[in-house]
Amino acid sequence: MNSAMVTGAAGMIGSHLIDRLLGDGVVVYGLDVMPLERANNLQEARGHSNFHYMQGDIRDKETIERFFRPEASTLYHLASVVGVRHYMEDPLSLIDIAIIGTRNFIALCEKHNVRILFTSTSEVYGRNPAVPWKETDDRILGATSVDRWSYSTSKALIEHMLFGVYRKSGMPMSIVRFFNVYGPRQNPIYVVSQSIYRALRNEAPEVYDGGRQTRCFTYVGDVVDGVVRAATLPDAVGEVFNLGNPTEVAIGDVIDLCLKHSESQLSPVDIETGKKYGSVYEDIERRVPDVSKARERLGWQATTDVSTGIARTIAWARANPWYLA
Ligand SMILES: NC(=O)c1ccc[n+]([C@@H]2O[C@H](COP(=O)([O-])OP(=O)(O)OC[C@H]3O[C@@H](n4cnc5c(N)ncnc54)[C@H](O)[C@@H]3O)[C@@H](O)[C@H]2O)c1
Repeated sequence: MNSAMVTGAAGMIGSHLIDRLLGDGVVVYGLDVMPLERANNLQEARGHSNFHYMQGDIRDKETIERFFRPEASTLYHLASVVGVRHYMEDPLSLIDIAIIGTRNFIALCEKHNVRILFTSTSEVYGRNPAVPWKETDDRILGATSVDRWSYSTSKALIEHMLFGVYRKSGMPMSIVRFFNVYGPRQNPIYVVSQSIYRALRNEAPEVYDGGRQTRCFTYVGDVVDGVVRAATLPDAVGEVFNLGNPTEVAIGDVIDLCLKHSESQLSPVDIETGKKYGSVYEDIERRVPDVSKARERLGWQATTDVSTGIARTIAWARANPWYLA
């Protein structure tokens, strides 16, 4: 029977990926630092006979070795500190979680010839102004004193490790770079999830600097399909793919959609980031993927427009009161 490992199993994307794999008949081994009883995102997977869960921290080498299944076809490596604020609370964890944890997984995958799928980010392109970005485009980053670039740099270093090991030993690997993923189960600290969370609790959402910046918001269901293709198709080995919805939407418009679909009468509160965060905050005006490579090699493209995805996410939040508690 086909089996796969998923790290970051209790997270938004990891849990949706697990539901998809279980639906495909795959035996799934999930690892996350969160105890299973607190992992609300795994409510559907929890009772499934093909789902096995281990609570553990990828910083710990012994944990990784106990979790690792050499017979599995694929390791989906999603576990990551997401959000620069967390890195800033404990800056050395950037090395321990992102770099050492992943390095130890790569060594095991190389030893046992297990295919690895790594989830990277559009942040690797930094503030390159020449959008849309192709996978081979330059990384243009700001100063190391600006916190946000630590996440980009950590993901890029892992990409370097993966390309290096692939070239050295042929260890099968694929990398995907996500663009603003949103959907049910997302921690309400990102623009779509926070706006929905607030609107449904009758609290005004926040809009930064007028909300004229654009993003390419990508629905989690679309992303999961791209991840599975990148992790399984032979043509994807040794490659990196942008997985994003190429339609640009202004952040202010997305917040308005969240309010509209929530049937809220509230208006967003404007936040001036210069005043709130000082000069260490650096925003990126536009972030747009060129998705022709994913279309040609994976036969993938995002099919959920942002209005539909937001409506679905709101319907899910209403049906899951624990999320709004
Ligand atoms: N959501 C996005 O828009 C987006 C964009 C770009 C890249 N990504 C990447 O996709 C992946 C999944 O993101 P997500 O949105 O599901 O985030 P998430 O925060 O919902 O999930 C991450 C999971 O990793 C777990 N984790 C963190 N540190 C760990 C550790 N030391 N050991 C074990 N588990 C640990 C967390 O408990 C969490 O459940 C991440 O690698 C992230 O960097 C996400």
